[in-house]
Amino acid sequence: MVIRQSLEGRSILLIISGGIAAYKSLDLIRRLRERGARVRCVMSEAAQNFVTPMAVGALTGETVFTQLWDRDAEQDIGHIRLAREADLVIVAPATADLMAKMANGLANDLASTVLLAVSSPVLVAPAMNPAMWDHPATQRNADQLMADGILFTGPADGEMAESGEAGTGRMSEVMDIVTEAERVLDDRPKPLAGKRAVITSGPTREAIDPVRYISNHSSGKQGHAIAAALADAGADVILVSGPVTIDPPADVTVVDVVSAQDMADAVDRALPADIAVFVAAVADWRVSSQAPEKMKKDGSGQFPALDMVENPDILRGVAQRKENRPALVIGFAAETEKLEEHAKVKLAKKGADWIVANDVSEGVFGTDRNSVTLVTKGGAEKWPASSKDQVAMRLVERIAERFETVAV
Ligand code: C5P
Repeated sequence: MVIRQSLEGRSILLIISGGIAAYKSLDLIRRLRERGARVRCVMSEAAQNFVTPMAVGALTGETVFTQLWDRDAEQDIGHIRLAREADLVIVAPATADLMAKMANGLANDLASTVLLAVSSPVLVAPAMNPAMWDHPATQRNADQLMADGILFTGPADGEMAESGEAGTGRMSEVMDIVTEAERVLDDRPKPLAGKRAVITSGPTREAIDPVRYISNHSSGKQGHAIAAALADAGADVILVSGPVTIDPPADVTVVDVVSAQDMADAVDRALPADIAVFVAAVADWRVSSQAPEKMKKDGSGQFPALDMVENPDILRGVAQRKENRPALVIGFAAETEKLEEHAKVKLAKKGADWIVANDVSEGVFGTDRNSVTLVTKGGAEKWPASSKDQVAMRLVERIAERFETVAV
C-alpha cells in the first residue's frame, strides 16, 4: 500500500503522559513517521512506567526528552525551542492530571512547561478511567481547555485496558489521532469548499431468499477513492456505499445500503448536492418478490424460475431531475470495446454531464489500477492507465476546474 506523505516536512511534538494507553503511542509514532512527519517526544515520569524512553527513541530516531532540569538536553535544544519548533503538539495519552495542569497553567515538569510555551495547535487524546473522565473536575478542565482553543480527539467509549470497565475514557484509536493531525496540518487549497457531493460506490445485493442474493464483483475501491479525493478538496461528501470490505475514507459521511432500491432512496435523501458521481455497480435487476423462507430443492433438477424486475436507474433518475438536479452529474461506464462510442451513447441516454468510461477488457474489479476515458459533451480524453487513487485525484481536479470556470 502506498501511504500518502500527508505530513511530509512537518514537525510533531508528541507528549506521552502516564497511562496504560501509552503503549499505543509507539504505534502512533510509526504511523506519523510513515506519513513523513518528524516526531520528537517528551515523556512524563509516569509515562516511563508504561513504555521506555529507549523504545520511544528507537521509533522516533530522535533524542527523547524526559527532564526539565536536564542540562545536556537543555544545551542541545531548550524546552522553549522544543515547543516552538513543532508545527503540532499531540498529547497522547493525556491523563486527567496533565489536563488539570494544562487547564490551570501549571508548569512544574517538562511536559507541562512545554505545553505552556507552545504557539502551535495542540491536540489532546485523553485516556483515563471512565469515572475520572466523568468527574466534574475533569469535565471542567476539558471545557476550559476547549475554550482555550485546545483540540480534542476522543475519549472513545469502550472497555478499559487495565480494568475491563466500560464507559467513556478510552484513548482514540491511533488512526483517528493521525487523521485529526492530518486535518489540522492540511494547508492544501480547498477548491471545493462549500460544495456538497453525493457518490455511490460498491456493488448492490438483491435478495433471492433470506440467505441468497445476486451481486457482482465491485470492490468499491474507485468510488471510495473519489469520495476521499473530493473530501480532500474540501467538499462535504456523502458516500452511499453498497456492501464492501474496504475501510471508509476519513472525513466523509457514509450511508451503508444493501439493495439498489436502498441506494436510490439514500441518494434521494442526500440531495440536493452540487456534484453527484455514480460509481456503484448497481444490479440492473432484482427478484420481484423475495421468498420469505429459504428456498428448497424440489427434486425436479430445475432451478426455480425467478421473476425479475428492473431496478431504478439511479444515475438517470438524478440526471433527469427537474428539481434539485446537481450542477454536475457524472456516471461510469464499464466497457470491453468501443469505449468512447459506447460512452457517448450512455451520456446522451442517461442525461449525464460526464461519463468516465473504464476499460474492463483486462479486468478491473478489485484491482488497484484503472484505465479510463473521460467523455463529456465536448469530446473524449483518454487518460494514461494509473492507480484508482490517481484517477480519483485527476477527476476531482477536473471537477474543481469546472466549478472554477463555470459559475454554478
Ligand atoms: O447502464 P449502465 O449500468 O452501464 O450504467 C452505468 C452507470 O449508471 C454507472 O455510473 C452506474 O453507477 C449507474 N447506474 C445507476 N443505477 C442503475 C444502473 C447503473 O446509477 N440501476
